[in-house]
Amino acid sequence: MQAQSRKWRLAKKSIGFVPTMGALHEGHLELVRACRKENDVTIASVYVNPLQFGPKEDFAKYPRTLEKDLKMLQGEKVNAVFTPSDKEMYPAGFSTSVEVKGPLMQGLCAPFRPGHFNGVATVVVKLLGAVMPDRLYLGQKDAQQLAVLRQVIKDLNMDIETISCPTVREHDGLAMSSRNQGLTLEGRKTAPALYKALKVGKSIVELGETQAEKVLEEIRKVIEDEKNVKIQYLEAVNPETLVPVTEIKPGTMIALATYLDNVRLIDNIVI
Ligand code: PAJ
Repeated sequence: MQAQSRKWRLAKKSIGFVPTMGALHEGHLELVRACRKENDVTIASVYVNPLQFGPKEDFAKYPRTLEKDLKMLQGEKVNAVFTPSDKEMYPAGFSTSVEVKGPLMQGLCAPFRPGHFNGVATVVVKLLGAVMPDRLYLGQKDAQQLAVLRQVIKDLNMDIETISCPTVREHDGLAMSSRNQGLTLEGRKTAPALYKALKVGKSIVELGETQAEKVLEEIRKVIEDEKNVKIQYLEAVNPETLVPVTEIKPGTMIALATYLDNVRLIDNIVI
């Protein structure tokens, strides 16, 4: 990967990079399309990173559909797909990890997924070292991942621009995710309630309610009206610092995580 990227860099081609764990859907493809528009060369990666899964999480069950993924990426005319093996990424003797600390790690998913963002940061730093891109494309759906990776790139002086792309949704509003495949038919019918609830929150703010506590309470009610949904967290935060706010302003992000059919779903909306 490095040898190929070096050739492109020597030829003065700009390189954009879209890291993924595969099981691709339109959300991933929109990142690829944005990348293609803004760069001479588009590189995607497909790698299910064991470091970012907790012991009780779905690493073994994570969908792996490489053949199909490669066809989809070929359809989008990417220039290369990097598909390293576990042995190449973490050979015997691998001893380094990237640890992120501070306020970005205090709320939202971080307390519920110890080690997750360090696993993401470590693999992405490795992937960036292999791909050597000018620009990195990430989805707004994983807002904390986006904020964390921006911080890592800044803190480690990496000369890479991070670009975030809007969340791509199903027709009924459900944010596309590889994990949606794990929902039962019934769960799939319930799942759009998350975004519906976030939109209810947004409209309450638009009607003049700015107290976060009150807005979150209304969102909670809409979700709790549904059967089988358990809220893990529901927070109003500054989207860059992820620090909770008491007063909702334009630009505030409301983010949530829920369990539905034992599938963990996250979503967010920016007011
Ligand atoms: P993965 O979940 O495969 O997501 C890859 C990228 O696609 C991420 O930037 C994610 O935010 C984006 N994405 C997923 N669903 C989206 C949607 N509905 N709309 C827009 N973008 C969406 O995120 C990871 O993989 C991994 O943590 C990774 C960064 C590859 C490191 O292992």
